[in-house]
Amino acid sequence: MYRSHNCGELNATHINTEVTLSGWVQKSRDKGFIVWVDLRDRYGVTQLVFDEERTSKEMMERAQKLGREFVIQVKGKVIERASKNPNMPTGEIEILVSELTILNKAIVPPFTIEDETDGGEDLRMKYRYLDIRRNPVKNNLIFRSKVSMEVRNFLSNNGFIEVETPYLIKSTPEGARDFVVPSRMNEGEFYALPQSPQTFKQLLMVGGMDKYFQIVKCFRDEDLRADRQPEFTQIDCEMAFVEQEDILNIFENLTRHLLKEINGVEVDKFPRMLFDDAMRLYGNDKPDIRFGMEFGELNDIAQHKDFGVFNNAELVVGIAVPGGNAYTRKEIDKLIDWVKRPQVGALGMVYSRCNDDGSFKSSVDKFYDQEDLAKWAERTGAKPGDLVCVLSGPANKVRAQLSALRMELAERLGLRKPNEFAPLWVIDFPLLELDEETGHYHAMHHPFTSPKPGQLELLDTDPGAVKANAYDLVLNGNEIGGGSIRIHDKETQATMFKHLGFTPEEAKEQFGFLMDAFQYGAPPHGGLAFGLDRLVSILGGQETIRDFIAFPKNNSGRDVMIDAPAAIDDEQLKELSLQVTVNK
Ligand code: AMO
Repeated sequence: MYRSHNCGELNATHINTEVTLSGWVQKSRDKGFIVWVDLRDRYGVTQLVFDEERTSKEMMERAQKLGREFVIQVKGKVIERASKNPNMPTGEIEILVSELTILNKAIVPPFTIEDETDGGEDLRMKYRYLDIRRNPVKNNLIFRSKVSMEVRNFLSNNGFIEVETPYLIKSTPEGARDFVVPSRMNEGEFYALPQSPQTFKQLLMVGGMDKYFQIVKCFRDEDLRADRQPEFTQIDCEMAFVEQEDILNIFENLTRHLLKEINGVEVDKFPRMLFDDAMRLYGNDKPDIRFGMEFGELNDIAQHKDFGVFNNAELVVGIAVPGGNAYTRKEIDKLIDWVKRPQVGALGMVYSRCNDDGSFKSSVDKFYDQEDLAKWAERTGAKPGDLVCVLSGPANKVRAQLSALRMELAERLGLRKPNEFAPLWVIDFPLLELDEETGHYHAMHHPFTSPKPGQLELLDTDPGAVKANAYDLVLNGNEIGGGSIRIHDKETQATMFKHLGFTPEEAKEQFGFLMDAFQYGAPPHGGLAFGLDRLVSILGGQETIRDFIAFPKNNSGRDVMIDAPAAIDDEQLKELSLQVTVNK
């Protein structure tokens, strides 16, 4: 038996008990006549003691030679500590060791395995298995497991069946590039890894499964960010005989259940916001509503006043920065530089200081009098002591720029509190989105999403105006889930593909299996998928999903620990009938 207890559970009630513990040497302190060793496992740390008087000379010597991260087993008696540590659950006791077995030696780790480590990100990724021994990473993985368990409990208690769908499939159009896998048995042909199980879950509805879920890996070859990984996990769900309202209710309940069970937070009914309102008020389809700073559109009050920049702009829009009048001129200049960075892309920023005495001082006083500036303040909700920041330009661009500024300022002002939760449904997304580069429309969610009732006809005349039965769940400014009511008849699906620029042949070639299935009695259905990595990290009070994934990829999509992706040898290439030419 390797152990009778773990390293986190012994306390004063165990004094005088004989125990066996196994774990890693966290650190040791050698005073010559006495050696203390901190023994660590997943559950905690227990102090071991060896001393000249009570420990044999031979064992004393072996204890003195223990290095960091050695794996050891000890037998001994639980005794009361002379100097207790109230900050540790095991801080009242220590183990007077009577037997020491070294189970495995360890070379010196490349970084210290402490909560605050000296290891940089790259090093920790290369030795991720050592990083996982550290509390912050370990606790995140435990947290993730707890969330997954709660999800499974909830869904299973609500009649959902977990079904696995294949990974070796054909392209699914979720808007990213596919990862492909060559087929040895089918020369020159490739599988695609699923960007999501979208078509399969719809086929499960045709198959009569009624309520499906799956905690499933998805693969998307897209540029990476803090909230994106090339392989990530979805809580993928689908239900038959449902309307949008049914879906919103059940998954709102799931989210509420998680907030309660995991975070101990009770949340009322989630607010709902139209996509158009989210864009108008926050410049963003995933607004963080933990704080205000809503946009105020100023076209009618800021144009036609001889200020050419505003007069020529499609949209003039501002926000109030709480307490921003305290910024020095230099600080405001820095803010202007910030919005002009290429990542944000504004051409400049106009501002108006709201003085405590009710007067205003703007960067465009030449064009606007106090009465004008008072209107700006009113529109943006600015109070004395605030700063109104105004951007102008093409509506889409300027909204995105002001949204970036809003988030940045909120971050700086500490308004994005990690332990406050503000869920929000964003509903009535447009069905189609115009790709400004190609001039073509593509599905904003995916091509299986149904238009709002009665709007199908609009597709011919004003495709951009068609709204979809599509919704996103937003938590603290992050899109944690999205879904839609699906098209479930062949004709509508064919019409949809036509509008997306597929020829009937292409549509049949790629999605014939789904349209065929629709002919055999497809029930009305719909669903959604949560991004589990995002959900977990936000519930955990963070926004970098990498920290909640056991073995994540870096920003270039590499696993630096196993060194993937990698070239394959000629023999393997031959088997796959592939030839590789790399243009560098
Ligand atoms: P969607 O593409 O919106 O919908 O994805 C659902 C959720 O998955 C998460 N997500 C990601 N998380 C980490 N890294 C990524 N690269 C990544 N991409 C997406 C997001 C997102 O909200 N089949 C549809 C769902 C449906 O219609 O039912 C789908 O995949 O949190």
